Amino acid sequence: MKFTLHIWRQKDRTTPGRMEIYPAEDISPDMSFLEMLDVVNEGLVKNGKDPIAFDHDCREGICGSCAMVINGFPHGPERGTTVCQLHMRKFRDGEHIYVEPWRARAFPVVRDLVTDRTSFDRIIQAGGYISVTTGGTPDGNAIPVAKERQERAMDAAACIGCGACAAACKNASAMLFVAAKVAHLASLPQGQPERRDRVLAMVAQHDLEGFGHCTNQYECEAACPKLIGVQFIAQLNRDYIKGALKLINKREAETESAAG
Ligand code: SF4
Ligand code: FES
Repeated sequence: MKFTLHIWRQKDRTTPGRMEIYPAEDISPDMSFLEMLDVVNEGLVKNGKDPIAFDHDCREGICGSCAMVINGFPHGPERGTTVCQLHMRKFRDGEHIYVEPWRARAFPVVRDLVTDRTSFDRIIQAGGYISVTTGGTPDGNAIPVAKERQERAMDAAACIGCGACAAACKNASAMLFVAAKVAHLASLPQGQPERRDRVLAMVAQHDLEGFGHCTNQYECEAACPKLIGVQFIAQLNRDYIKGALKLINKREAETESAAG
């Protein structure tokens, strides 16, 4: 197969970028999109040119590194699939393919297709953990968890932190990511003690990073390679309201006790 690639090239964070055209020839239909880019890069290096920079790690759909927009779709046009799992047979022979980095203020371009996604790390650091001393490995079944809750936690934990949800959203909202991270802990007994504080802290950090607000566009759900559903955003909103009320009540009690 052969393709004409239109790829975003950008030297660094501050230099303006532009689309450049590259031929991709002798491509096997069984190659992944990243393997096709490897072939193009080998040709560029052979000719003394800078290879196209892109993020990748596991190439198995589990790390969330391979972030790029293909033909206008974050992770490409195949539903529920990361770029590393997208095969060239899904494209037409001779097709023009447009490849760009994530577009969101909170994901600045580092180089070419690579964006800085440490904003997601800071959201996790704000509350996406359980801060109890767990000690040794607990006995199996010491804390019974209903099957429905286990499955809900696992569905939410499938989020690989790729950022496609924010890249797809016209508001660049990362609420689906935050909701998945909040929901997987909120579904388990171990996540209950910090549940309300966690949601307030993570949403505050999300806003601080420059992500936008959710206006129920559902583009996030359509773009998510792990098929995380917007029902987790509904749960996040309920937890957020309960957390905010708890905080208001606490502050009122403190004011009353200070006033004597
Ligand atoms: S919710 Fe989906 S799209 Fe968003 S970061 Fe997680 S896996 Fe990626
Ligand atoms: S390289 Fe890990 S998910 Fe694609």
